[in-house]
Amino acid sequence: MPDTDILQDPAVQARLSALLRSTANDLKRPDAYADTDLGLPTGTFARLVDGAEPVSWQILVAAAAAWPVNLRDLLPLQDDTDRDVRILRAAESEASSRILDRAGRPYYEYRDTVMSRLGSFRPEWIRMLCTVADNEPDNPAVQWNRGHLLYQLTYVVGPVNYYCSWNGTRRCIPMRTGDSVFGLPYAPHSFTSRDPDEPAYILALTYGGDLTGDPQRELAVLGEQAAHDLAYRPDGHLFAQLLTSFLHAKMLSPAELAGRAGLDPRRVEALLTGKVSAPPTELAQLAAGLRVNVRDLMPVTSATTDGISVQFAADARRWRTGADGAAAYEITELAGDPLHPHTTAVDVRPLLPQPTDAAWMRTYQHQYVYVLEADGTRMSWDSGGRQHEAELHAGDSIYLKPQVPVAFTGAGRLLVLRIAGAVRADVRFALGHMAGGGQDRYVRDTQLWYSNEGK
Ligand SMILES: [Fe+2]
Repeated sequence: MPDTDILQDPAVQARLSALLRSTANDLKRPDAYADTDLGLPTGTFARLVDGAEPVSWQILVAAAAAWPVNLRDLLPLQDDTDRDVRILRAAESEASSRILDRAGRPYYEYRDTVMSRLGSFRPEWIRMLCTVADNEPDNPAVQWNRGHLLYQLTYVVGPVNYYCSWNGTRRCIPMRTGDSVFGLPYAPHSFTSRDPDEPAYILALTYGGDLTGDPQRELAVLGEQAAHDLAYRPDGHLFAQLLTSFLHAKMLSPAELAGRAGLDPRRVEALLTGKVSAPPTELAQLAAGLRVNVRDLMPVTSATTDGISVQFAADARRWRTGADGAAAYEITELAGDPLHPHTTAVDVRPLLPQPTDAAWMRTYQHQYVYVLEADGTRMSWDSGGRQHEAELHAGDSIYLKPQVPVAFTGAGRLLVLRIAGAVRADVRFALGHMAGGGQDRYVRDTQLWYSNEGK
């Protein structure tokens, strides 16, 4: 068992101090009161939040016992990147190889690719060890899983059969290199090979996205019924579900909303049945009546069929980025879905020999990169104002933090999956609406919320 005390890391200590200060500020506890609450000798809390004394597990446990906060609210993230990236080399990936049996026979070979504590990616390289002679979903050799929570973007290499089951309907989709699939949570699936003599594997890029972390923990407390009741269901009328939810939240009757929105009460009643839809002018009136933004009344939909969205390479959209004549990348679009507007899956071919301006990219997303083919492929990135470079080889994989400037050069082919972290659009709007200096204090609050000397 690893015996490293993760709390001893200086960067973790700095974030622990800031979280403790921020929590005490939220609870309106000046230092002396915090000392009393936590049973500490006078002056200790001030030293803990100043970093003069290390924050220990005992302090955290005492705080979570005395205050209405969870232990996890006091725990910071551990940054496991080196200069903002993590690179897992092909040899390390191969060393993680595990054969997983199904029904007593080897079915898959799994290899880890890069993961970071900062991103919800759980990407595996998986080789199919079961070969089939047909494309029947009911072939008895096919071993199905039970489905899993994580979303899955699957990228196919070789003659792979993809099997998926949705509410009892089973399908088999024969796939080739470059084909990809986006899959929704908990749909059972499986993979086999159609040819024992050809390499057949997938990159199974699973990720939690908005489902893991706080929402799952909150619903674990609220319970199954709440999870059922809170689900906006596409088999119902999504807009009516959204509107009803706001009426409950804001304690409004349909007649009161109609009056505020300048609409006929019968019209609001009709909209609540879901059988009619609201044109843009009515949406704006309803939004004003509810004191929300129009976007809050817009349902989110999925383009998946039976839980999946398939993108065959043969009919994928392709384009180039950068100036004409000096294109930086050739991009091929992989499977995706409007349910995840902040997810981007693409196959990228670098085109430039040097990281000129056109090659540099930056995004708010967490990035995962798998090197499918390398040919003088290099990655340049900026960390703390300094440029770094790494040579890339087939089978290497990379995690990049959000906002890290990066450029890929040389030739080769990269599988890139970008996903949103916890800093989603709502949070970005909130950050932008803070008082001056707010963003800095949000990241590291080290001071009492008022001055002891008075002002
Ligand atoms: Fe899976």
